[in-house]
Amino acid sequence: MKFQDIELLFGKITPKQMLPKVTLLVLLSILIFVVTPMCYPLFSYSSLLKINKYNKHPESLPSTSVKKCNIFSGEWVSNPEAPYYTNNTCWAIHEHQNCMKYGRPDTDFMKWRWKPNECELPIFNPFQFLEIMKGKSMAFVGDSVGRNHMQSLICLLSRVEWPIDVSPTTNDYFRQWKYPSYNFTVAAFWTPYLVKSKMVDSIGPSHNGLFNLYLDQVDETWATQIEEFDYIIINAGHWFFRSMIFYEKQNIVGCCDCLLKNVTDLTTYYGYRQVFRTAFKAINSLQNFKGVTFLRTFAPSHFENGTWNKGGHCVRSKPFKNNDIRLESTNLELYMIQLEELEIAKKEGRKKGLEFRLFDTTQAMLLRPDGHPSRYGHWPHEKVTLYNDCVHWCLPGPIDTWNDFLLEMLKMEDMKFSSGERLHV
Ligand SMILES: *[C@@H]1O[C@H](CO)[C@@H](O)[C@H](O)[C@H]1NC(C)=O
Ligand SMILES: *[C@@H]1O[C@H](CO)[C@@H](O)[C@H](O)[C@H]1NC(C)=O
Ligand SMILES: *[C@@H]1O[C@H](CO)[C@@H](O)[C@H](O)[C@H]1NC(C)=O
Ligand SMILES: *[C@@H]1O[C@H](CO)[C@@H](O)[C@H](O)[C@H]1NC(C)=O
Repeated sequence: MKFQDIELLFGKITPKQMLPKVTLLVLLSILIFVVTPMCYPLFSYSSLLKINKYNKHPESLPSTSVKKCNIFSGEWVSNPEAPYYTNNTCWAIHEHQNCMKYGRPDTDFMKWRWKPNECELPIFNPFQFLEIMKGKSMAFVGDSVGRNHMQSLICLLSRVEWPIDVSPTTNDYFRQWKYPSYNFTVAAFWTPYLVKSKMVDSIGPSHNGLFNLYLDQVDETWATQIEEFDYIIINAGHWFFRSMIFYEKQNIVGCCDCLLKNVTDLTTYYGYRQVFRTAFKAINSLQNFKGVTFLRTFAPSHFENGTWNKGGHCVRSKPFKNNDIRLESTNLELYMIQLEELEIAKKEGRKKGLEFRLFDTTQAMLLRPDGHPSRYGHWPHEKVTLYNDCVHWCLPGPIDTWNDFLLEMLKMEDMKFSSGERLHV
């Protein structure tokens, strides 16, 4: 196990080159205490080169595999081997994301993988994932795109094992699954605003609902349930395009598109920032929480030729290249707010020994206008709110790549954990 971890980083070590145990220990401690904190969020391996200064056997570290790499910066490249499951082999696909069932004619959108600029991102290995998550638990906290992600994970893991439903309620928005052979639990907590919220009008001034958001009160349906989890993957975004009235200390402080004459429009950005601040504060104030929190950043929608409720659709069948499109306006603002609030949370977390990590899906997903159901999320005659869905992602589809990212990030966590244990021995 330990050697496998090392191999992951440095490539295969032949027995002749194998380092003495003491050197290994020194190496690992440098890795934990020097390298990881500096480079972790972007997984930049560049600092590993510094190890050579301390290492008596530099020739044992093939420098070709030691290089700077941000796994979230790259391009989509063709992958004829995908997909790794189908709508017939996986029952966990949500109805509205079962694009093949509803007649999507093309399949090329499934056949891409993410290629980071400076390294390779391995395709998800379900055995390795479950091995790492043995005896652990993971909570998806956020909106239905988070659930979409969890269902992709269940489908990808199905090559190894199906989970059993251990949900405490029958509510579809709060499912918990257990992998019996691995004692791995995965749970979804549906909380599109992360804070306490209430729909006050299903139509509202801009015809997509009016919601009260209590910006300084975390939504307890998730915040009281996650203390025992080892990993939290938190997200929010698409519900911030609706009309909202913002409350703080029980009083209205402003709104977004509420069109009330006596209330200041503070914009959606104000609310978005405050809910992340409140959610992260809540995590940082949990008494017994010892887990790692991943902020899965905003994944842009791709409505073209109209907004979501004005006939907009997403009919492209190929990814963009980085040169074709830029992250800008609202998408950029939301993303920047997330990065800023994550930094604040990290600083707070450090005082309590809690870790916050960037799970940066924004740029990769900006490039995938082809990955949404559009009109293939239901039968044509069915009346659904989001008739053309350019928000969620078809399964199988590009959201499967989020689990490639996830496993890569877990490997880093696991490596630190195992080496940490070693050092305490
Ligand atoms: C899967 O998709 C096919 C079309 O490709 C469809 O005929 C079939 O009913 C779907 N199966 C399920 C279980 O959704
Ligand atoms: C399963 O994992 C949980 C932590 O997620 C732990 O508390 C429990 O003791 C484990 N059960 C077994 C049988 O290993
Ligand atoms: C604004 O006006 C509405 C309707 O007159 C009232 O219900 C609401 O309480 C007022 N809000 C504030 C902040 O004064
Ligand atoms: C774009 O929208 C207009 C009306 O809003 C419609 O007439 C036209 O067919 C749409 N174009 C495409 C390519 O769907």
